[in-house]
Amino acid sequence: MDHFGYRNGEMYAEEIPVREIAEAVGTPFYCYSSATLERHYKVFTEAFEKQGLDLLLCYAVKANTNQAVIATLAAQGSGADVVSEGELRRALAAGIPPEKIVYSGVAKTAGEMAFALDSGIYQFNVESVPELHQLSRVASELGREAAIAFRINPDVDAKTHAKISTGKSENKFGVPWVEARKIYAEAARLPAIKVVGLDVHIGSQLTELEPFREAFVRVGGLIGQLREDGHEISRLDLGGGLGIPYDPTVQEPPSPDAYAAMVKEVVGDLGCRIIIEPGRLLVGNAGILVSQVIYVKEGQERKFLIIDAAMNDLLRPSMYDAYHEIVPVVQNGRDAEVFDVVGPVCESGDIFARGRKMMPLESGGLLAIRSAGAYGAVMSSTYNTRRLVPEVLVKDDKFSVVRPRQTYEQLIGLDQLPNWLAQ
Ligand code: LLP
Repeated sequence: MDHFGYRNGEMYAEEIPVREIAEAVGTPFYCYSSATLERHYKVFTEAFEKQGLDLLLCYAVKANTNQAVIATLAAQGSGADVVSEGELRRALAAGIPPEKIVYSGVAKTAGEMAFALDSGIYQFNVESVPELHQLSRVASELGREAAIAFRINPDVDAKTHAKISTGKSENKFGVPWVEARKIYAEAARLPAIKVVGLDVHIGSQLTELEPFREAFVRVGGLIGQLREDGHEISRLDLGGGLGIPYDPTVQEPPSPDAYAAMVKEVVGDLGCRIIIEPGRLLVGNAGILVSQVIYVKEGQERKFLIIDAAMNDLLRPSMYDAYHEIVPVVQNGRDAEVFDVVGPVCESGDIFARGRKMMPLESGGLLAIRSAGAYGAVMSSTYNTRRLVPEVLVKDDKFSVVRPRQTYEQLIGLDQLPNWLAQ
């Protein structure tokens, strides 16, 4: 459930008409709802509380790194899952305590490790033997100890889009589960390394529980073996990945309650602190991308709504053929027609929806692309020398611009001419 709803035919973000925000900041812009963020955090943590599980929720900040979003979740008690020094710096700046931060990522550099060790983070999720050795070296040099879990690749098919599937043996992620005992033994021998747990993340936008269950059964069994080998495994990080509803006409993914019950059933008796790293589930439906129709164009075969947002602002439809609901900001009562909704970028792939039946809009009409809070603004670029769009956070009847629209000076001014061209 989210807090973008209609009143008298007009879309509101919490207590504010979206149209009013559009008039104030211009289009396109991202709009996030505090109440929705808070609600999703609560629903997820309560689902685990009901099962009596000891949970540390580490929001996967990659889904939306705006510090206002991170700070909203931090105020609820959230930790963070980060995958780069940049994300770690943002999480710290937004008020997440270091002892609630886990550092994932397939190849942390020595510099990133040093920064994370100096920051005093909770745990490193290590993804390879070379990375383990590097971490041991860096931690030794700094006179610190690194608490680690290995990310296990359980060789399980997440049954999601190939580009966001991470738990098969062919994927670059994690250490092979069949080699885990050997690798944990190696870690136990290294200086400045403290083995504390095990981690698994098999993919994103999973719409069934079965792949999770299969992976968790596998890592649960592994924990028993590792304990027999003498390792103290007190933390189990189950990653993120639970999907959200994007398309109201298809069946909803499993609820957080069903997910938590399955976690309890499969790994609840291991006595581990459970860490989870949800990204999309917390922020996906807490955000919309608001755009304006530039032209309505009658093609030979199709009718196009050409809008002022483009693939550089929201890449998901181009990159994953992702479905996003597109709705008018002000309903006009006209009968639905079929449109291709496209952006102005010079690529045929710059498309938000093909053959979409929707309420017709005229030039200047506002529309909202829903479920854009996760992997939206964070994946945007300035392709076609288009400026990064503003992000707005709403709370009740207030809103605040939490990232302003980039200026052309900022964008173009980054280039520097070499002295043989500069006159
Ligand atoms: N933990 C790790 C180690 C991850 O790699 C990810 C996402 C998450 C947690 C959070 O997963 P979530 O709960 O959000 O599914 N850009 C793609 C999604 C990429 C996901 C990458 N890793 C998209 O727009 O669908």
